[in-house]
Amino acid sequence: MKRIAVLTSGGDAPGMNACIRAVVRAGLHYNLEVYGILNGYNGMINGEFVKMEFSSVANIIQRGGTILKTSRSEEFKTVEGRTKAYEHLKKNAIDGIVAIGGNGTFTGAEIFTKEHNIPVIGVPGTIDNDLYGTDYTIGFDTAVNTALDAIDKIRDTAVSHGRTFFIEVMGRDTGFIALSSAVAGGAEAVLIPETETKLHDLGEMFKAFEQSKRSFSIIVVAEGDEEGGAFEIQKKMLKLHPGLQSRVTILGHIQRGGSPTAFDRINASMMGTGAVDALLDGERDKMVGVENNKVVLTPFHEAIFRRKPVNEYFLHLAEVLS
Ligand code: F6P
Repeated sequence: MKRIAVLTSGGDAPGMNACIRAVVRAGLHYNLEVYGILNGYNGMINGEFVKMEFSSVANIIQRGGTILKTSRSEEFKTVEGRTKAYEHLKKNAIDGIVAIGGNGTFTGAEIFTKEHNIPVIGVPGTIDNDLYGTDYTIGFDTAVNTALDAIDKIRDTAVSHGRTFFIEVMGRDTGFIALSSAVAGGAEAVLIPETETKLHDLGEMFKAFEQSKRSFSIIVVAEGDEEGGAFEIQKKMLKLHPGLQSRVTILGHIQRGGSPTAFDRINASMMGTGAVDALLDGERDKMVGVENNKVVLTPFHEAIFRRKPVNEYFLHLAEVLS
């Protein structure tokens, strides 16, 4: 292994830059040459390679987004696209790849390494925290803190007006951001795809609140909840409870930006360095993660397809403390 390349792909996440920095600096520390691939898999297909030096990653550990840019590549889903990508890797004499991203990134990497003989190590970079084989993905902690800051602010106006707020947070198929921000934000209820959303019970809760003169409430809704997003839930609730004074806030992409928390930077540094170590140890087709503060490796297939369970105790807390 003489020359490695690093890319970011899929939705960006705060802490990706800290991870790029770790891959580049760990690689240089081990006397490897390190290349950055711009724009995710699209850049691999189009030959967008840049040589990374020590100074290329100076002053980025605190920055959100990704200096390498990212994409959700449709072309990489085709055999032709992947063949072009491989040709560029060969032309640039790349011996191993570190791919920072989420589910889609690893799905592409798994197919690619089966077709072409090049080792790939994945690093979980997504705010969704939906990958098996790591306690937390890079960006999750920052996203939760961003959501929490918004929830705290919305609470001020909710209390002042005596209103219910349905706050939608990101999480395409999972409720990790919703559950953590709901517990930390003292929400009255949290609706996530992993648990059955019982609208009737929610309606009963609002009735009980009314009777006990509790005038405001915060309901955190994961965007992927099976009953719909926050607007949909509000609509359904108004049918059951027409007098409900409510508003909806969709937090959206604000959750993907901003300076990463210390936790995300440390995790990103551990995982980026762990990915380079793994390549040098001859590992391939695995995702590096951090479990109980230790770097661990999980085969791509398991990381993608094994469902990571939500913390049952957090669910208990959300219910008992509301
Ligand atoms: O995968 C991360 C994520 O932020 C999801 O929570 C969200 O559903 C999706 O990306 C949004 O993707 P895009 O920015 O491509 O619309």
